[in-house]
Amino acid sequence: MQANVVVVGSLNMDLVTRAERLPRPGETVFGQSFGTVHGGKGANQAVAASRLGAQVAMIGCVGSDAYGVQLREGLEAENIDCQAVRTVTQGVSGVALIVVDTNSQNTIVVVPGTNGCLASQDIMAFDGMLQETKVIICQLEVPMETVGHTLKRGRELDKIVILNPAPASGPLPVQWYASVDYLIPNESEAGALTGVTVDSLDSAELAARSLLALGAGKIIVTLGAQGALLVSAQRVMHFAAPKVEAVDATAAGDTFVGAFSAALAAGKGEDDAIRFAQIAAALSVTCAGAQPSIPRLQDVKDFALS
Ligand code: RIB
Repeated sequence: MQANVVVVGSLNMDLVTRAERLPRPGETVFGQSFGTVHGGKGANQAVAASRLGAQVAMIGCVGSDAYGVQLREGLEAENIDCQAVRTVTQGVSGVALIVVDTNSQNTIVVVPGTNGCLASQDIMAFDGMLQETKVIICQLEVPMETVGHTLKRGRELDKIVILNPAPASGPLPVQWYASVDYLIPNESEAGALTGVTVDSLDSAELAARSLLALGAGKIIVTLGAQGALLVSAQRVMHFAAPKVEAVDATAAGDTFVGAFSAALAAGKGEDDAIRFAQIAAALSVTCAGAQPSIPRLQDVKDFALS
C-alpha cells in the first residue's frame, strides 16, 4: 500500500472521566465515569484520514508497555501502515488525562512519554514514505526539532504540508512558516501563535493575516460552532458549521485535519475539502471519546445528503 497521507505525530492512551463540571484549581469533583480510549493528536488525525478514504501511514513512537501494544494494534485495525511506528524499549507510552463536562467542554493534560523520543532520524529512515505521499501532516505533541525537519523535507519534496499547531504555547520558529501550505489552528492556538485574542471572526482574521505575513501559505482557523475561516493572500472566506448536538469536543480538531487531508489527497478542491472536514468534525462531537468518535466516509456522505 502506498500512502497518500503521512502523519508524523503522537499516539496517546486517553484516560477519560466525565464530570458534572471541570474542577477549579485546588478543587476536587466527582467523576461519573472512567475509561481508556485510543487518542493522541497524530493518531487521531491518521484514523480520521483513513476512515475518510485516504491511504495512511503513521510515523511515531510508542512504549514497550501494554498501551503501546494496544495503540499500535488499534491503528493497524484501521488499515494504517505502522511500519514507521517505533517501539521504544523500556519506554512508557504517551497518555492524556482528560475531563469532559456536561457541556461537552474538556481539559486535557498530556504526558508525552515516548512521543518525546520521535527524532528526525525516524523521519529520515522513512524518507521514501514522504517522497511517495501527497499530503504530510504534523502537530506539536512530538519534539519541535522533528516537526521542523518534517516540514522542511515536505517543502523540499513539494508535498502538500499541513501543520496543526496543537498544543500551542507561544510563537512557532519563524522559519517553519514558509514550509507550510495549510496552517490549521483553533481559536486558542491562533491566539498563542500571534498574541491576538481570538474571540470573533474579525480577530480570527487579524491573527490569520499576521501568520500569513510570516510566510504560511494559507490559514484555516477552526472556530467550533462558529465554523472555520480560510485566509489566504487571495481571499477570506467563512464556512458556517453544520448544526449538531454536542456531546464531547475531544478530537474534533483532529477529525477536521484528518478529513481535510483525506479530501485533498482524493483530489477535492480546497472549499469542498473544508466543507467535508466540517461535517466530519461536527459528527465527531456527537459521540464521546477521541478515536471512537471519528466518523466514516458513509456517515459523512449520509449527513451531507440529509
Ligand atoms: O486532540 C485530542 C487529543 O489530544 C486526545 O486524544 C489526547 O490524546 C491529546 O493528545
